[in-house]
Amino acid sequence: MKESKHVQLNVTRWNKWANSYDGKGWRYVYLRKAQSSLISLLNIKENMNFLDIGCGTGWAIGQVAKLVDYKGSFYGVDLSPRMIEKAKENFKVNNNFHFINANSESIPLDDNLFDIIICTNSFHHYLNPNKAMKEIFRLLKPDGKIFILDPTADYWFIKIIDKIIKLIEPGHVKIYSTKEFESLLINAGLKYIGCKKTITREKVHIGEK
Ligand SMILES: C[S@@+](CC[C@H](N)C(=O)[O-])C[C@H]1O[C@@H](n2cnc3c(N)ncnc32)[C@H](O)[C@@H]1O
Repeated sequence: MKESKHVQLNVTRWNKWANSYDGKGWRYVYLRKAQSSLISLLNIKENMNFLDIGCGTGWAIGQVAKLVDYKGSFYGVDLSPRMIEKAKENFKVNNNFHFINANSESIPLDDNLFDIIICTNSFHHYLNPNKAMKEIFRLLKPDGKIFILDPTADYWFIKIIDKIIKLIEPGHVKIYSTKEFESLLINAGLKYIGCKKTITREKVHIGEK
């Protein structure tokens, strides 16, 4: 699929979702649980630079900031302009929160900026995963850490789900296996530390620059 078509499909889909994204339906409860599971793995300290790629309306950023009494710089990037508008609205009183409408494959921020980058339930939508991973490498400080939470195709039924989603959702790209995540991280220059299962049975893949 052409890059521009893929971007357009995803923007349309996620702009629509943005209107209800802070709701209380089962889908959102599930996503919040998954994000909480990842957050419990972070060794977040005061005055860190933190980034969430594919941040949606910014919920995880708010939770992480709360853990350190809002001391630090908190960034969110998302492809959907509407998700970013909502995130800005949600955190308008926090002047150390920055939300940017951009593609994960080309993020307009400086090199070596972040102590921690997270990405939750978003990576499987990226058309060029190697490009996105190289951006993560560029943006992390030396020793900075990346935590990617995503469904992981280590079992036959997830591989079948991946095939079904591809048929019904044209903006979907691929659910990766642990081995593929490891290769993606290593090819971008990152160390693959390992992975942890979440309560939602997805996996968090952890890497370090
Ligand atoms: C299922 S939502 C997950 C949002 C949030 N991270 C969460 O866990 O609830 C996927 C998000 O990824 C964003 N997204 C999809 N493709 C993207 C891309 N290429 N670059 C940046 N964000 C992207 C979508 O706009 C959407 O907000």
